[in-house]
Amino acid sequence: MKLVIDTTQATLTRVEGGTETSLPLYSKEAFEALSLEWVRVGWSLKYYHNFSWFGLPMLQLPEDVIRLQEVMYQLRPQVIVETGVFRGGSLLFHASLLEALGGGQVIGVDLKIAPDVREAIEGHALATRITLIEGDSTHPAIVERVKEIVGASAPVLVILDSDHSRAHVARELEAYSPLVTPGSYIVATDGIMRDISDVPRAVAGWKTDNPFEAACAFAATHPEFRQQQPPWLCHDGELRENVTYSPGAWLKRL
Ligand SMILES: C[S@@+](CC[C@H](N)C(=O)[O-])C[C@H]1O[C@@H](n2cnc3c(N)ncnc32)[C@H](O)[C@@H]1O
Repeated sequence: MKLVIDTTQATLTRVEGGTETSLPLYSKEAFEALSLEWVRVGWSLKYYHNFSWFGLPMLQLPEDVIRLQEVMYQLRPQVIVETGVFRGGSLLFHASLLEALGGGQVIGVDLKIAPDVREAIEGHALATRITLIEGDSTHPAIVERVKEIVGASAPVLVILDSDHSRAHVARELEAYSPLVTPGSYIVATDGIMRDISDVPRAVAGWKTDNPFEAACAFAATHPEFRQQQPPWLCHDGELRENVTYSPGAWLKRL
């Protein structure tokens, strides 16, 4: 596929399989096509490896973090469960917002929490809001422990950011979706794997083996959840779609 940006003619032209389509450059459709390419190129260059929150690395696209903040501001979760801790930055992001919103707890689950990561999180000023659990996020004993800690708290928001294979995310969705309270979400992150399977550092199989596929299959068999992007709280102009690493990720409990 070839994308030609012509700033003189103000067009974006896509040439694919012998077909050529031109769009006005300053249009919603051109913005969406260019954003997807920006996300793809950035992913190949580890763009998302260059951010931190309150001192710890966070593997997120800043656009996604802003959208998550909007959901948290509206929802005011009492518990956020996140699978996939990495070096702790996203747990601190959740905890810092809960602190500002006046309450709540974060539960972080990871297969392996290195001693220096545990030390950095447990020694942080926000540590009282965070519980770390080490183990496979889909192991029944781990899921049970999370459920015990959550108890009857509400609202509960769940973010799946661990092993991004379709099978693992499907198991996580089954295991953690019962915790999600009505009006809240379970978020199957990193469905962008579907769209980046051909870029440097990626794997061809990601085209179908990804969280987006798991989220779609889950939504099709769980009518109590609807796959929908949370509404933007501030809106002006014609843009509608998140620029995101997580297309189709948001599953709202009805
Ligand atoms: C994408 S990183 C998480 C990024 C983190 N949420 C952030 O924003 O900085 C994925 C993490 O999932 C963990 N992981 C991989 N397989 C897992 C599993 N089966 N259960 C729990 N965690 C797993 C890895 O150890 C890694 O730390």
